[in-house]
Amino acid sequence: MGKMKAVVLLSGNGSNFKNILDRIKDGYLNMEICAVISDNEKAYGLQRAKDENIKTFSLKDNINDDLNKFLDKIDLDLIILAGYMKILPPDIVDKYNGKILNIHPSLLPKYKGMNTHQRVIEDKESFHGATVHFVTDKLDGGPLILQQKISVDAKDTAETLKEKVHCAEYSIYPLVIKWYIDGLLEQSENNFLFKGEKIESPIQDISNIK
Ligand code: GRF
Repeated sequence: MGKMKAVVLLSGNGSNFKNILDRIKDGYLNMEICAVISDNEKAYGLQRAKDENIKTFSLKDNINDDLNKFLDKIDLDLIILAGYMKILPPDIVDKYNGKILNIHPSLLPKYKGMNTHQRVIEDKESFHGATVHFVTDKLDGGPLILQQKISVDAKDTAETLKEKVHCAEYSIYPLVIKWYIDGLLEQSENNFLFKGEKIESPIQDISNIK
């Protein structure tokens, strides 16, 4: 089989995109990123892509129509959301069902939506983290695949939590993408299959997984 083809959708800095790209370059991920797409033409992630000679595409006024048309032109295996701040419309989610991954900065189902780090501080949580999940029509509500927990210290601020969560993201997102590339992962309605076995809640301990 040839290399899988993925597109990355982002709205901002794109450090997760950069990290995934680094893991392609070091041979960990056997995949090609054929385009980086953004709803924000000023997103630094677009510049990162240009610097690597990866095709970029900015969504303008009718962003979902533009996105649909663009995606239709590519024979896609995977859509990677990496800090994409818009909600994908139902027709795209339907068309690419089981082929869309997202990373969210919280231990879902806790703290869906925005400003997760600040909300975690305000609620005096002891733990926080990141979650990789399949995307469905429910906001941050698709099957949860893998989580990494971090502890929240008394001195933490939203800013320090953001850094800690990003570190966690850089390890779990490439791992899930690798599982997907290796055919170990499959979406099955509201759950997912890992090596053919139905998993009902997110994997949190990867020590037993090779
Ligand atoms: C990450 O925290 C990710 O979980 C969320 O958006 C942020 C994107 O960060 N969806 P970056 O643009 O990859 O640095």
